[in-house]
Amino acid sequence: MHQSNIFLRPLRSKDAEGMLEWMHDSRINVFFRFDADQMTMERAEAFIRDSVHAANKKMAYHYAITDETDEYLGTVSLKQIDWSAKTAEYAISLRRFAQGRGVAAKATQEALRIAFEQLHLNRIFLNVLAENKRAIRFYETFGFVCEGEFRKHLFLRGELKNLKWYSMLKDEYRNIERFSGGGITAADLQKGLSALFVLPCPATEVA
Ligand SMILES: CC(C)(COP(=O)(O)OP(=O)(O)OC[C@H]1O[C@@H](n2cnc3c(N)ncnc32)[C@H](O)[C@@H]1OP(=O)(O)O)[C@@H](O)C(=O)NCCC(=O)NCCS
Repeated sequence: MHQSNIFLRPLRSKDAEGMLEWMHDSRINVFFRFDADQMTMERAEAFIRDSVHAANKKMAYHYAITDETDEYLGTVSLKQIDWSAKTAEYAISLRRFAQGRGVAAKATQEALRIAFEQLHLNRIFLNVLAENKRAIRFYETFGFVCEGEFRKHLFLRGELKNLKWYSMLKDEYRNIERFSGGGITAADLQKGLSALFVLPCPATEVA
C-alpha cells in the first residue's frame, strides 16, 4: 500500500517507542554503525531531548516522519551541519511496516527541500555500508551520486566492512526538481536521471 501523505516535524518523546522498534529490529540494525540493540527507552528519550538543543543551536535537525494521524514512521536527519562549507549529512531510517510505500522518497524530498531551499546548504552527503543493498538502491534511484567506497573501513560485529559515500549538490537537486515539476516520484526520477551526470561508483568485491 502506498502512503498518501507524510509529514516532517521535530521528534517528540512519544516517538521513542517507534524509534526503539526499528533500532531493535535485527533486519534493520544489522546495517547500523552503532549498537542499536543496546538502545533503551531512557537513551531514546535523551536523544529526543538532545535533538531539541541541537536544533536550537543549528547543529542538527532530526525530524519524525509521520502520517496523517501523527503516527511515527521513522526519522530523517540533517546533521553534522557545517555552515561555512554549507554541508550536512543526511540519514534516514523507517520502521519496517513503513518501508516500500514511498515514505522514504517523500521524506527525503522534503528533507532536501529544507536543506537546499530553507537552510541554503550546497551539499548533502551520506554514507552507507556497501552491503545495505536496499538503501543503496534507494539513494541511487533518488539521484544521490556515488563518490567512492572506503574499503574495509569499519570493524563492526567482528567483521571489516566497506563504506560507500554519496552526495547531492544543490545544482543536481535543482535538475531533479525541474524534471519532476517539484513533486518527485520514482518514475520521474528514472526519466530525469538519464540527463544527469551521475558518476558510476567503482564496484568493489569484498574478499
Ligand atoms: C533505506 C530506506 C529508508 C529506503 O526506504 P524504502 O521504503 O525501503 O525504499 P524503497 O522501497 O522506496 O526503495 C528501495 C529499493 O530497493 C529495492 N530493494 C529492496 N530490497 C533490496 C535488496 N535486498 N537488494 C537490492 N535492492 C533491494 C526495492 O525494490 C526498491 O527498488 P525499486 O524502487 O526499483 O523497486 C529503508 O529501507 C530503511 O529505513 N531501511 C532501514 C534503515 C537503513 O538501512 N537506513 C540507511 C542507513 S545508511
